[in-house]
Amino acid sequence: MKHNDIDAISNVHLQAFGDDEGPEISQLARDILGHPNTISISAERDGTIAGNVLFTPFVFADHPDTKCYLLAPCGVLPEYQGHGVGREIMEDSIEHLRSIGTDAVFVLGVPTFYPRYGFAPTDKQTPYPDLLTIAEAWMALELTEGSIAKLSGPTLAIPQFMHSHWWDTTGRD
Ligand SMILES: CC(C)(COP(=O)(O)OP(=O)(O)OC[C@H]1O[C@@H](n2cnc3c(N)ncnc32)[C@H](O)[C@@H]1OP(=O)(O)O)[C@@H](O)C(=O)NCCC(=O)NCCS
Repeated sequence: MKHNDIDAISNVHLQAFGDDEGPEISQLARDILGHPNTISISAERDGTIAGNVLFTPFVFADHPDTKCYLLAPCGVLPEYQGHGVGREIMEDSIEHLRSIGTDAVFVLGVPTFYPRYGFAPTDKQTPYPDLLTIAEAWMALELTEGSIAKLSGPTLAIPQFMHSHWWDTTGRD
């Protein structure tokens, strides 16, 4: 990926997540764009990247052959929010992930947004299951029929996500 694109994508997340979370999530996006298996889906408006979502491998230790991804972060530049950019990147992503044989996608996020695209709360473990205090925020989208029911046990994200604070929903809305 070109440096310009990395800068534009990290700027999307910087602006989308605001003063409190933006700097950290923008740096996270930059870091995970350097991971060889990251999938990055963007939408452009007016010649600039207006929205971006990233997917990284997510592994169930006891089911290593089930192909799962973690969705994070997902953001749209504030001036383009509410005009279909989020929908476009979500729909394009799901189509792409399905085309490469993905079994399931997991997300820890806004429980009112992701269900629009087929995500539903899941009882599978996050990498830090004891820190999940908002059960409905941990969701999964099944892309290969029957794949999620078989999954159980501990999970691993890429190293950038293996820090407890990403998974601690205490105090979040
Ligand atoms: C959430 C976000 C990615 C949505 O992108 P967007 O371009 O504004 O969304 P769209 O205009 O494509 O709207 C798609 C649908 O989601 C709904 N929606 C938009 N933002 C939403 C939100 N924060 N919560 C719930 N639903 C939301 C819209 O009403 C729309 O519904 P419809 O298709 O039934 O009309 C964007 O607002 C954003 O970057 N927010 C700040 C960062 C963030 O919260 N990211 C998600 C963290 S888990």
